Amino acid sequence: MLTIALSKGKLIEPTLELFRRAGYESAGLVGESRRLIFPCPEIDTTFLVVRPSDVPTYVEYGGADAGIVGKDVLMEQDSDVYEPLDLLFGACRISVAALRAEVACDRLSSKVRVATKYPRITERFFNQRGVPVEIIKLYGSIELAPVVGLADRIVDLVETGSTLKAHDLVEVDLIAQSTARFIANRASLKLKHAPLMDMIRRLRKAVADSQKTPAMPRGDAGLKRASISAKDRA
Ligand code: PRP
Repeated sequence: MLTIALSKGKLIEPTLELFRRAGYESAGLVGESRRLIFPCPEIDTTFLVVRPSDVPTYVEYGGADAGIVGKDVLMEQDSDVYEPLDLLFGACRISVAALRAEVACDRLSSKVRVATKYPRITERFFNQRGVPVEIIKLYGSIELAPVVGLADRIVDLVETGSTLKAHDLVEVDLIAQSTARFIANRASLKLKHAPLMDMIRRLRKAVADSQKTPAMPRGDAGLKRASISAKDRA
């Protein structure tokens, strides 16, 4: 039996689609909105649905044998997990952004105040450039910070760019690209080698196939989706 930690929010639907494509069909992967654990005995797997930032912790400490999480979270947390597979969906970038009106303003010689939910990535980035930085840790809605004068810059995920645009912000530096990754617990890789390697092989093939064929229309998905509440998707 494998236990797999899935990231709730933006990654959950493409994750479930990928598992379906990989042949992990299960009627068990469905449920009431507040359910967090989905045993699927027919595929010998239990799925956990957790916050993205908690996935590496579940996997590193063995609460799950493997998990699906964005590279952004892995870069921030530096967890001791095995990362064998880039799943290629959930593509976005981690960028520095500023109010359009303030881009020209050269703050980089003095201390820059940066709002972010990625304090380590931010600190590393500015330190590498020798720029003194004051980090304001936020947990969401980062784009608000420059608008109300809380920060000079933000470091945040950019996917379509529409949230930046809606707040008159522009990207000024690209820090890294991010996509969803399959991660595995190091001990599980030894103790549950055969089923984990089989899952990795099947997911790898599904990822490769998805590069050749377009994604299925949502309504055709054979694998029933976990019923995540609207709140969880936010
Ligand atoms: C993420 C990210 C940006 C937005 C980027 O926020 O933090 O705010 O998505 O997407 P876009 O470029 O397509 O506009 P999320 O929706 O996860 O919510 P949060 O602000 O509460 O973190």
